[in-house]
Amino acid sequence: MDELKAKYLEQIAYAADEAALEAIRVAAVGKKGEVSLQMRQLGKMTPEERQVAGPALNALKDEINAALAAKKSALADAALDERLKSEWLDVTLPTRARREGTIHPVSQVTEEVTAIFAEMGFSVAEGPRIDTDWYNFDALNIPSHHPARAEMDTFYMHRAESDDRPPHVLRTHTSPVQIRSMEKSGAPLRIICPGGVYRADYDQTHTPMFHQVEGLAVDRDISMANLKWVLEEFCRAFFEVDNVELRFRASHFPFTEPSVEVDLRCSWQDGTLKVGEGDDWMEILGSGMVHPKVLQAGGIDPDEWQGFAFGMGIDRIAMLKYGIPDLRAFFDSDLRWLRHYGFASLDVPTLRGGLSR
Ligand code: DAH
Repeated sequence: MDELKAKYLEQIAYAADEAALEAIRVAAVGKKGEVSLQMRQLGKMTPEERQVAGPALNALKDEINAALAAKKSALADAALDERLKSEWLDVTLPTRARREGTIHPVSQVTEEVTAIFAEMGFSVAEGPRIDTDWYNFDALNIPSHHPARAEMDTFYMHRAESDDRPPHVLRTHTSPVQIRSMEKSGAPLRIICPGGVYRADYDQTHTPMFHQVEGLAVDRDISMANLKWVLEEFCRAFFEVDNVELRFRASHFPFTEPSVEVDLRCSWQDGTLKVGEGDDWMEILGSGMVHPKVLQAGGIDPDEWQGFAFGMGIDRIAMLKYGIPDLRAFFDSDLRWLRHYGFASLDVPTLRGGLSR
């Protein structure tokens, strides 16, 4: 028994891995192992011999099992140590350069505009870019004979002769979302809708796809004064100057009455724009009081409710704020341009944290 004990304890001590350990276990205490075979001999012994040999064999078996378990856990610890050494990672290394990808000025300005209007209680609404001519025109008080339809350079969707669905267009402005929002939420209402719009036009300041943001506020006693305050507040925050001055110039849009175009006091010096000073005026948006027919088309009673609306070019105000000269470059996907005019991806615009830096 002493021989068996010495032999197996030594083998266990030198076992290189779990497989070797398992082989030792089978040979020693497995069903046909040496210790088990010895135990089977107990039956042939005299009771006196058995009284000594029985407990001694049991103790040997326990001792071998304990040694196996201890070695097994020692092997596992060693394997873990080995892994920790080989998979070591220096988490204090510096990160990669920050401006690998950038936020496009259109996305940046959309976020800025959204942050400003959110502060004034406007939520963001959306509508489809392919819309019916009813939403894009008729519901906005632009009937089919109206000259505004021709002026818009509309892209019409192709129609098969047999197609009896209403005609669809690529929306020429974000104004159809006014109607969809009124239908969906009713009055009172305060929304902006930023998004892409389409017109067949192409030069330094026009691309066939560009971006607008629509604004709509409907309530019982909304007036031009509210419109003026909201737009001033917006310009002050957006252009990041305290002394903005706006000029309302009488104009005409079919969907507003009265209608105004809004100009911003500014100066141009050596090709740089300064907002809030100087003797120049720059047009930045169209707006007015929502036409009763438009409220009606949206399912809102014009005898009970009134509202203001405005529409502004996102790309245009992005060009003004960030001094970008050519609109066409917005959509060229030229990496050099994107690196130059793009914004750091983690600087999310907020009014408290700063809109841009
Ligand atoms: N939809 C007009 C355009 O695309 C812009 C506009 C003007 C929108 C006046 C309005 C508005 O909501 O009241 O040119």
